[in-house]
Amino acid sequence: MDLFRTKSVEQSISDTEVKEHRLRRDLGALDLLVFGVGVIIGTGIFVLTGQVAREKAGPAVALSFLIAAVVCGLAALCYAEFSSTVPVAGSAYTFSYATLGEFPAWIIGWDLILELALGAAVVAVGWSGYLDSLLASAGIHLPAAMLNPPGQGRGGVLNVPAVLIVLLVTGVLVAGVKISSRVNVVVVTIKVSIVLLVIVAGLFFVKSANYHPFIPPARSTPTVAGAATPLVQALFGVTPVSFGWPGIFAAVAIVFFAYIGFDIVATAAEEARLPQRDLPIGLLGSLVVTAVLYAAVSLVVVGMQHYSELSIAAPLADAFKAVGHPGFATIISIGAVAGLTTVVLILLLGQSRVFFAMSRDGLLPAWLSAVHPRFGTPYRSTLIMGCVVAVLAGLIPLAKLAELVNIGTLFAFLVVSVGVVILRRTRPDLPRAFRTPLVPLIPALSVLACLFVMLNLPVETWYRFLAWMVVGAVLYFTYGRSHSRLQTARSEV
Ligand code: ALA
Repeated sequence: MDLFRTKSVEQSISDTEVKEHRLRRDLGALDLLVFGVGVIIGTGIFVLTGQVAREKAGPAVALSFLIAAVVCGLAALCYAEFSSTVPVAGSAYTFSYATLGEFPAWIIGWDLILELALGAAVVAVGWSGYLDSLLASAGIHLPAAMLNPPGQGRGGVLNVPAVLIVLLVTGVLVAGVKISSRVNVVVVTIKVSIVLLVIVAGLFFVKSANYHPFIPPARSTPTVAGAATPLVQALFGVTPVSFGWPGIFAAVAIVFFAYIGFDIVATAAEEARLPQRDLPIGLLGSLVVTAVLYAAVSLVVVGMQHYSELSIAAPLADAFKAVGHPGFATIISIGAVAGLTTVVLILLLGQSRVFFAMSRDGLLPAWLSAVHPRFGTPYRSTLIMGCVVAVLAGLIPLAKLAELVNIGTLFAFLVVSVGVVILRRTRPDLPRAFRTPLVPLIPALSVLACLFVMLNLPVETWYRFLAWMVVGAVLYFTYGRSHSRLQTARSEV
């Protein structure tokens, strides 16, 4: 059936050789690792840690970070096989096109747009908050109207800094991946240094009393009620609770955001010099590095300050203010501003590559995928999506958006895990530089783990996700299906 027509792996790879659609291959293993770490460390650890410890997990938030890392690790083992077999821009979208068929691939591509565009908007809003706090330390106070979206924070109109950072990053991306990855290396170094600073300096202020009880007893709270109830609790009709083990799992569903990005390394497959070797290193390496850092940072922060007193906007910096060291807080805020910039950059880069791959296949208008003659980048899709993300970042509050990003990402992980098993059956002949161990056990565990985390997301997040998917399905049936290159190639025969 049409909906499940697949694009062959050979076709996917040879498409990248067409000159006007060709991206430059100039990223090595280290570039990809830096790329991964650059997008992974961001709003998740800098902003969400405080809120999640306060409202859901208490000091055990470190456990949530570790559990989320295991979930991502399982998916990464599947991503690594896929991206070393189909080293083409577009990540999960391309993989699904080669295995599950066109409609599932469209759904995944549409889903990735949600993950990456909305993720970039979320991080841009976080960036704006840190910038505000830095400016405030320097005695400069921006009016609330230009720091908040409508309906928020005393007369919010437009989050101007968030809009500006998105536009700036878009400009860098249009100018070419080489420039942006160099900028990235510098900023990632700053960001990792700041995280290490929090761990090392913070250790001196840890009080063991703050760790008791490490897992606070489960209880009902205002943050879990009505449509905010995690689906798993609503399904089983239990009284919604935070803390305890249910709280730790609800926290996993949120801090999962902190790992988003390793999958984006796969979106750069087409620009890697030796994708078969370098991609697995980039994917798994960046995940391991960040999991260790996150567990350490979150343990230190909840040890410095009682979890119920952690700040929601800037928990890492404010924990140092709370122990009487505002100087450290300022350094951390500077690092956060620099660090979040690279996150916006890589999310937007991944986004533009997915968009590029989809329009190259005819599922989105083809003129979007033309590569700039001088910069070698898909400048049209980058510019258009940059503007859309800028508007989103300026007008929408971030709180619930992170959950929406997570559900989209988990769904993509799930599909990739299923795809590995399918591709092993349908194309056992393809060379696989990296093979997922213990197939089908690892992919099956990955599917179950993603489903479990998704079930821990609020009911309202599920509604929003389904709504986005319905819009995507309508677009496919009104445009993509008839314009697909697989369709037009067939009509010409
Ligand atoms: N993982 C990225 C962050 O934490 C998206 O901001």
